[in-house]
Formats: sequence, C-alpha cells, structure tokens
Amino acid sequence: MIIVPGPASVKLGSIVAELLGHEAHPVDHRLFPDGESYIRLTADVKDETVVLVQTTAPDPDRKLVQLLVMARTARDFGARRIIACVPYLAYMRQDKRFLKGEALSFDVVLGLLEDSGVDDLLVVDLHSEESLGMIQPRHSIMVHTLSAIPIIAMYLKENGYDGAYSLSPDVGRKDIVEAASKVMGGGFAFFEKIRDKHTGETTMKVKDVDVKGRKAVVFDDIISSGGTMARAIKGLKDQGAVKVAAACTHALFMPGAEERLSEAGANLILASDTVETPYSRVTIAGLIADHLRSL
Ligand code: R5P
Repeated sequence: MIIVPGPASVKLGSIVAELLGHEAHPVDHRLFPDGESYIRLTADVKDETVVLVQTTAPDPDRKLVQLLVMARTARDFGARRIIACVPYLAYMRQDKRFLKGEALSFDVVLGLLEDSGVDDLLVVDLHSEESLGMIQPRHSIMVHTLSAIPIIAMYLKENGYDGAYSLSPDVGRKDIVEAASKVMGGGFAFFEKIRDKHTGETTMKVKDVDVKGRKAVVFDDIISSGGTMARAIKGLKDQGAVKVAAACTHALFMPGAEERLSEAGANLILASDTVETPYSRVTIAGLIADHLRSL
C-alpha cells in the first residue's frame, strides 16, 4: 500500500501512514502564478494499492481538482487500486434537487472521482447516508463512510461534559446525536431547520427541551457560517442550559463564525481534524487507519 498525502492533507496523511507502518509519499506540489496546481507523484505506484489522502477545504474547488489530478496520474502510472481518502468531501451537501435546473453536485463529484480512476472513496461524516443510497447506485465507485462523532463525544465525556444533553440543530442529523448520547449519556433531542428553497435562508424551530441547569452539546456535521450552531446554542441557553459546547466534524469556519458562536454563548468549540483548525482537538487519523487496514 502506498500512502500519498495530497497538498491539503500533508500532516493527516503522514500520521495515517505512520499508524499503518508505511512511509508517506507526499506529492510534489506547487502553484503556478495563475493559480493552477502542479502535481507530481513521488512514488512508483505500478501495480500498487494507492491511498490518496486529500481533504477538500478550505478552497474546495482547488482541492478537488488536485485530488482528481492525483487520481488520474496514479491511474496513468499503473496503480492497481486507488482509494481516495477524503475526510471532508466538498459538495456533499448538494445532494438533492429542490428547483428545476439545479445541479446535483454530489453526484457530479462522485462521477468525476470515478472517471479519474478512483475505486474506493473514504469519507468522514457524509452529509446524508440517505442521499448516498440514492446516488451511489449510479456509480461503480465504492463509498465507505466513517463517523467522527463517537470520538468527539468521548473527548467531551472526558473533558467535563459527561452526562451532557446532546442536541442536533436539525432532524436530519438525528443519527449524530443518537450516537453521541450513547457515549455521553444524558439523552438527546433535535430542533428543526427550515430552508427557503429559493433564497437558501434558514430558520430554526426551537423545541422545548429538558436542559434547565444542565450541560449540553450541540452536534452538527459542519460548521460553516456558524449561523445554525449559534441559533441552536441560543435556543438551549434561553431554556436554562448552564454550559453549551459546539461540536462538529468538519470545521469550515467562514469569517465571522467564531464570533457568532461566542456571541450565542458557546462555552467550548470542538472539531475533528478533517479540516485543520485551532479547534481540531480530536483526530480522525486512527479511524481512517483502522478502516484502511480492513480493506
Ligand atoms: C446543513 O445541512 C449542515 O448540516 C450544517 O447544519 C450547515 O452546513 C451549517 O452551516 P452554517 O454554519 O453556515 O449554518
């Protein structure tokens, strides 16, 4: 097995390689003045199983193109099997059509990966398993999904949130809080997020939950603008929660996100390292290495 960290995941790819007892072979990479990427594989991949480790944020379009170029190059040089390990997969949220003419970008991305030679795709906390079930049959690429939520919940349990209440900002993420609650105890519930399909604006239906005098954690797959998380935190604080942590797998953290969370009263912000940020205190390297061992 040849482990190839891409430009977006040099550190994570090297840790995964080390856990597997392999040498890491990061690609040779630079940016041309016009912004295009130069990529060269640094290992002989002929007849090998090649694991490309490349997350796709920040700067999703560039990171995705780099991944496609890496895959196609590995295929050109005779790789036997190509496993794309993409901890955060850009475009995974665009998995349904709400209006006529809308792109089903998640489907497009799977198709591009497949056309570039990827046999297996490893993703952490995919946005919707249900959508994957609908879209995967259109492709021959094998998608493996892992979840960082149990290890994030374990971190919280060991760091002051044992027995805390788990809340999802949306019913669509119910599976996440069910999993978290199994680790932390404390029960779970969800609010409801309603999206205007024309403007994309969302509103949140805050339900009554039993958090008065308790600690709680809001779990989401992604924090981007921080708006969803901030509304959920405020909903819990307004109902008397004493401490609320904001936890997610993928911390995209667009400008202003941290301020929104702080203003809403977040007592802790925690994320995994699918996207490297100062809040990435939980690593998914072991999760990925264990899965690769099983393939
Ligand atoms: C959306 O469906 C996701 O699960 C997240 O809730 C969303 O991406 C968070 O975005 P933001 O931080 O911009 O509210």
